[in-house]
Amino acid sequence: MKIICAKDYSDLSRKAANIISAQVILKPESVLGLATGSSPLGVYRQLILWYEKGDLDFAEATSVNLDEYRGLSANNTQSYHYFMHKNFFDYINIAPDHIHIPDGMAADPDAECRRYDRLIADLGGIDLQLLGIGRNAHIGFNEPDDHFSKYTHQVDLTESTIAANTRFFEREEDVPRQAISMGMQAITQARKILLIASGADKADAIYASCFGPVTPGIPASILQLHQDVTVIADKDALSKC
Ligand code: GLP
Repeated sequence: MKIICAKDYSDLSRKAANIISAQVILKPESVLGLATGSSPLGVYRQLILWYEKGDLDFAEATSVNLDEYRGLSANNTQSYHYFMHKNFFDYINIAPDHIHIPDGMAADPDAECRRYDRLIADLGGIDLQLLGIGRNAHIGFNEPDDHFSKYTHQVDLTESTIAANTRFFEREEDVPRQAISMGMQAITQARKILLIASGADKADAIYASCFGPVTPGIPASILQLHQDVTVIADKDALSKC
C-alpha cells in the first residue's frame, strides 16, 4: 500500500484526480469504478474543471459504480444514480450507455446482482477503482461481517452506516435499510485501487484497514492483499497511523 498524506481536502482531491486523469489519458477506454459519498465530491469537481479546460476526454471511458440503495429509483434525489449524474456525469462527455450503476428498484435483486457481476466481467474488469471508506471501514456497502462477500450482493446496512448517512436525508427513517453493493471480487480484481479519506472520524478505519489484521470485520483491510493500492488521506484521517 502506498499512503500519501495530503495537506487538506482540496490537495487530497487534486492528487486523486491526477491519478484518475493519468488513467484516462493513458487508456481512454478505461473502466472506472466510481464511488459516492462526500469524500469523492472534490475529485469529481476537479475532473470536471480539467474536462472543461479540454485536458480530459471521457468519450471512450466506461463507469461502474460501487453501489445503490434498495428501493430508490434513479430519479430519487437521494439515489446514487442521481448523485452521480448531478455531481459528475452531467458535466462530462461520458456516453450514457457507458454508465453503469446497480438498479436499486430491480424486482429480483439476486438477478440484478448476477447481471452486475456479468457486466463487469464482460467489460474485462475494472482498470481503476476509486473508494471512499465508512467509519466502520466499509467499502462500497461491504459492511463488517464474518466473511468477505465475493459477489455483488444485497446488504442490510449497519446502524453505524445508517446513522452516518442520515446527514443526507431529512429524517433517519428515510434512510434506506438495504443496498446493492459490488462484492470484493470485482473490487480487488481492479488493476489499480485508489482509496481516499478525510477527517478525524475516518482515523480508526484508516489505521485498522492499513495496519490491522486482514479480516472481514474490517472490510477495507482486504486491500492490504492487493498489489496496487494508493491511499490518499489528510492529516486527520492519518492521525492514528
Ligand atoms: C457510503 C458509500 C461508500 C462511502 C461511504 C463514506 O456508505 N456507500 O461508498 O465510501 O458512504 O462516505 P463519505 O465519503 O460521505 O464519508
